[in-house]
Amino acid sequence: MNSHAVVCKNISKNFGSGEDEVKVLRGIDLEVPLGEMTFLVGPSGCGKTTLLSVIAGLLNPSQGDLNVLGTPLHTIKGSKAVEFRRVNLGFVFQQFNLLPSLTAAENAAVPLLAANWNRKQAVEKAKTLLDDLGLGSRANAYPNQLSGGQQQRVAFARALIHDPKLIVCDEPTSALDEHTGHHVMELLRKIAVRPERAVLVVTHDNRIFNFADRIAHMNDGHVTHIETNGGSH
Ligand SMILES: Nc1ncnc2c1ncn2[C@@H]1O[C@H](COP(=O)(O)OP(=O)(O)O)[C@@H](O)[C@H]1O
Ligand SMILES: [Mg+2]
Repeated sequence: MNSHAVVCKNISKNFGSGEDEVKVLRGIDLEVPLGEMTFLVGPSGCGKTTLLSVIAGLLNPSQGDLNVLGTPLHTIKGSKAVEFRRVNLGFVFQQFNLLPSLTAAENAAVPLLAANWNRKQAVEKAKTLLDDLGLGSRANAYPNQLSGGQQQRVAFARALIHDPKLIVCDEPTSALDEHTGHHVMELLRKIAVRPERAVLVVTHDNRIFNFADRIAHMNDGHVTHIETNGGSH
């Protein structure tokens, strides 16, 4: 069986062209093992969000090979790629991208509704997950009635609800206080870190570094070194 959720080989990404060309990723080699929580850390502007977007299939790499859950990403295109992401991936981005006309529970239920679940069952499941995230009492609130931290937890529920194999999170605790941040990371570990699953978290929040099995350090478009958490290996 494939032991890696993600394998990046010599991935580069440039924006613009000619004199305006910016080389953001400069030959990334990275393996994200299944059954682990991997963190990607590094200074602001080093390319973390760009790499996460490439891995999530939201940006095409300029060069290199990317394999996600055993599938070479360049082999799937268009609606097949959308379907692949919908089923296998959960995202938490820095902008929470909640739909303003849907309640917290309906937002969290979106991946199930997209998979043609019965609406009532989908919203019930979303409410249970919001409850686990300490947001049960706000399930019927709209995004503009929620604080940043509450919206971030709704985005978490939406990322986890369809039990995806790969969860990618960009600065997932940025809007959370320390206690809530720890709670959310614990839940993420519990839900996501199973032998056939993996979590990749971009963060510069050193309060949560101890949740990582593995920390990939990035600088200036390169992964410079990998640290493993000795305690869990
Ligand atoms: N669409 C884009 N066009 C041009 N430059 C970009 C674009 N997206 C990101 N960049 C540049 O790439 C660099 C890395 O950005 P980013 O991946 O967001 O870094 P990080 O998440 O590590 O802070 C930055 O210098 C940023 O300005
Ligand atoms: Mg970023």
